[in-house]
Amino acid sequence: MHFETLAIHAGRHLDLGTGAVIPPIHLSTTFWRDPLQTLAGAPLPDYTYTREGNPTRGALEQALAQLEGGSAAALFASGSAATLAILQTLSTGDHLLLPQDVYYGTFKIAQGILARWGLQVEQVDMTDLEQVAAALRPQTRLVWIETPSNPMLTLTDIAAIAELAHRHAARCVCDNTWATPLLQRPLELGADWVVHSTTKYLNGHSDVLGGAVITAAPDPESDPDWQTLRHIQANGGGVPSPFECWLTLRGLQTLPYRMRGHCQNAQTLAHFLHSHPAVERVHYPGLLSHPAHALAQQQMPEFGGMLSFQVRGGRQEALQVAAQLQLFTHATSLGGPESLIEHRASIEGPNSTTPENLLRVSVGLEHPQDLMADLKQALQQTYQQTDKK
Ligand SMILES: Cc1ncc(COP(=O)(O)O)c(C=O)c1O
Repeated sequence: MHFETLAIHAGRHLDLGTGAVIPPIHLSTTFWRDPLQTLAGAPLPDYTYTREGNPTRGALEQALAQLEGGSAAALFASGSAATLAILQTLSTGDHLLLPQDVYYGTFKIAQGILARWGLQVEQVDMTDLEQVAAALRPQTRLVWIETPSNPMLTLTDIAAIAELAHRHAARCVCDNTWATPLLQRPLELGADWVVHSTTKYLNGHSDVLGGAVITAAPDPESDPDWQTLRHIQANGGGVPSPFECWLTLRGLQTLPYRMRGHCQNAQTLAHFLHSHPAVERVHYPGLLSHPAHALAQQQMPEFGGMLSFQVRGGRQEALQVAAQLQLFTHATSLGGPESLIEHRASIEGPNSTTPENLLRVSVGLEHPQDLMADLKQALQQTYQQTDKK
C-alpha cells in the first residue's frame, strides 16, 4: 500500500459500537475484567489499566509501526522520554556511540543522567566510517544515528553504520524525527529501532508533545531488548495521554502532503540564501554544495523542511536578522505549519559547539515567495544597520 493511503488508514477502524468514522478517544484509565474469566484462568484482556495499554495509544502505535515499516511501536510522553527509555535498556558498563552533531537533549540524557549510572558515552563523527569503526569496542551495545542532524544538517550513511554496529553485535538506533518515514527508511536500511519526537512533523501542528520507538524485530514479543523497552514504558509510566495520541493520529493523515510542502519551500529558501551576499554558508542536503549531497540523493527522495545558515558576522548579526523577521517566529522546535527560526547557540548553552552566527529554520507551509521576501528584508535591514556603524 502507498504511504498516502497508510497515513490515512493505518491504525484506524470504524467504531462498531456507534458507527463513528473518526475513532473515539478512550479516556478511561481502567477497563473491566470478567471475574468468571479470571476464575477460569483466562489470560488478561488487551486492556486493563491505561498506563500499560490504551486503545487510542494502541491505534497510534499500530499506525506508526506500519508507516515506518516496522513490526511494533511503543509511545512515550515526549521524544526525550523515548530516548531515555531506549538508553535505559542498556546496563552499567555498556558503551554507547553518539554522533558528534546530535540533538543536544540526547547528549544531555546520555551524559548528564546515564553516565552517572555507569554508561560509557562517546561521541564520534558519524560521517567518517573509519572513525566509527575505530571507536567500536566489545562493550559497545548501541550506535545512535541522527540524520539529517540537528542543527548542522550533517548526513550519516545509515546502511553502512548499521552494518558496522551489527558486526560488533551492537544495536543501531536512528532518530528519524527530521526526515520522517516519508523521506527516509532507516529500518529498511538496516537500523534496528527508529526513534521519533512525534512533537515535530508526525503530529505536525506544534500542539502535542510525544515520542515513539519503532522496532524492526520480526517477532518483538520474543525480543528481550524490545520487552525491556515495553517494561520501561508500562512500569516507568512515561506515556502520552489518549488525547495527545488522538491528535497525533489526526495529524498523521496529512503527513505526506505537508512534508512535500515543507521540502519544496525549504529547497527554494536554501537556494535563495545560498546566493545572498550576507550569508556565509547554508546547510541543506538538497544543495549541490552540501558535502553529502550524493548520499542525500541515495538515502532520501526529498531533502526535508529543515535548514540552517550562517550569516556574515557573529551572534549580534544573527540575532538582528531574527529580530527583523515578520513571518518567521524566533522560537524553538520544528515541524509545524508556521515557519520558525532559532539562534541555536543561545538555547544550547555555554557548552554548545554550534556557531554563534548560525540560525536554524523550520521552514513552514506559508507561500515561499512571502517567506523569501521576509528573509530578504530582514537581511537587508540588518546589514544596512551594521554596515553603517
Ligand atoms: C532530532 C530530535 N530528537 C529528539 C528530540 C526531543 O523531542 P521532544 O522535544 O519531543 O522531547 C528533538 C527535539 O527537538 C529533536 O529535534
